[in-house]
Amino acid sequence: MTNKKDRFPMSAKTSFGFEDLLVEELGKVGAINLKKGTRIVHFEGDLETMYRANLYSRLALRILKPIKSFPAGNEQQLYDEIKKIDWSEYLTENDTLAVDAVTSYSTLTHTLYISLKTKDAIVDQFREKTGVRPNVDLRFPKVRINIHIHQNIASVSLDSSGDSLHKRGYRSQQGEAPLNETLAAGMIMLSKWDRASNFTDIMCGSGTIVIEAAMMARNIAPGIFRNEFGFERWNDYDAELWKSLLDEAKQNEKPSLDFSITGIDRSHQAIRNSTENAKEAGVENDIDFHAMPFEDYTPKDSVQTIVTNPPYGGRITDDDLFNLYKNIGDQLKLKYSGSNAWILTANKEAAKNIGLHATAKIQLYNGALECRMLKYELYRGTKKIHKIKDGNNEEV
Ligand SMILES: C[S@@+](CC[C@H](N)C(=O)[O-])C[C@H]1O[C@@H](n2cnc3c(N)ncnc32)[C@H](O)[C@@H]1O
Repeated sequence: MTNKKDRFPMSAKTSFGFEDLLVEELGKVGAINLKKGTRIVHFEGDLETMYRANLYSRLALRILKPIKSFPAGNEQQLYDEIKKIDWSEYLTENDTLAVDAVTSYSTLTHTLYISLKTKDAIVDQFREKTGVRPNVDLRFPKVRINIHIHQNIASVSLDSSGDSLHKRGYRSQQGEAPLNETLAAGMIMLSKWDRASNFTDIMCGSGTIVIEAAMMARNIAPGIFRNEFGFERWNDYDAELWKSLLDEAKQNEKPSLDFSITGIDRSHQAIRNSTENAKEAGVENDIDFHAMPFEDYTPKDSVQTIVTNPPYGGRITDDDLFNLYKNIGDQLKLKYSGSNAWILTANKEAAKNIGLHATAKIQLYNGALECRMLKYELYRGTKKIHKIKDGNNEEV
């Protein structure tokens, strides 16, 4: 296994649209030779880089350590090549394993089947050598193996993260349609918020966006609340190094903020959830929550960075979604002049009712839903434009 200072290749998986930002993030934790793909960044580093990437990346979903790549055009080839890897380097017959599979543009299309074949090859290797086989543990395995087959080439990696890194460990309360924490963090980064000025989510739900913002501003490492990372079970786990990184992260946290972060939601239950989650993330004193419709709220300072994720009408039914979007436009213009507002929506028709000119549109995915993150620059005196065409408001 790896010595402390050995350099090895790694890959960080992320969501569509965050690849450039992830390159920047990984560069800051010591990653070198960074290469961007779609939803992935390849890089090199040592054990410390791997630990830091897991601890500090707000955008990565998993940090993988590739161990072998080979052609896998059929199941026999896959089985044979997996069996050629000396698995005793990573686990014993008494340990547990889990296999996650992804496939694209390949003959083998069934991920569950690829996982099973991979697992079979590994356990058969142990059984043939020792008469005993490791067991599968999908939740807390000694090693989580990731197999990605693309155009019939398989890449086998060890998953150093374990559970996906978007699971920060602070969100015990979920609302109706909570955002993935990685998506929330990525939206905030795309907004170019300076982490030092007023920030608001006018429809905060379970609070993900404002909590991620407060953690960024307080310099709280996103991985600090997680109970476990995959690498902690590996043979080369360096507990001393990991502890020193956790101590360093704690020391670098800012004790408080001198500007406001505000979360508004008309649902009292959503605000109860947000408050609970903020407590778990240690940022309850950094966020002002208000249980009321955003239409009834007036900010103390009109200049804010606003990042929000209104209902789209799909997962949440709204009596009058178009009216809600019209209200967003009206309220932004009325109460937030001088602000930049970013709105994530999958509902293009509803977005037209905002009635303001979007100065940027960024394609993102909320789960499988294709969305746009729309930017509205609310200059003082911004005109709300309503072009009436065939009786409908038209996007401007
Ligand atoms: C898609 S959810 C937001 C999810 C949130 N980003 C999260 O991570 O949990 C939309 C939220 O908008 C809220 N909402 C809808 N209309 C509102 C209004 N007029 N004022 C304030 N909140 C509103 C809903 O209660 C819901 O919690």
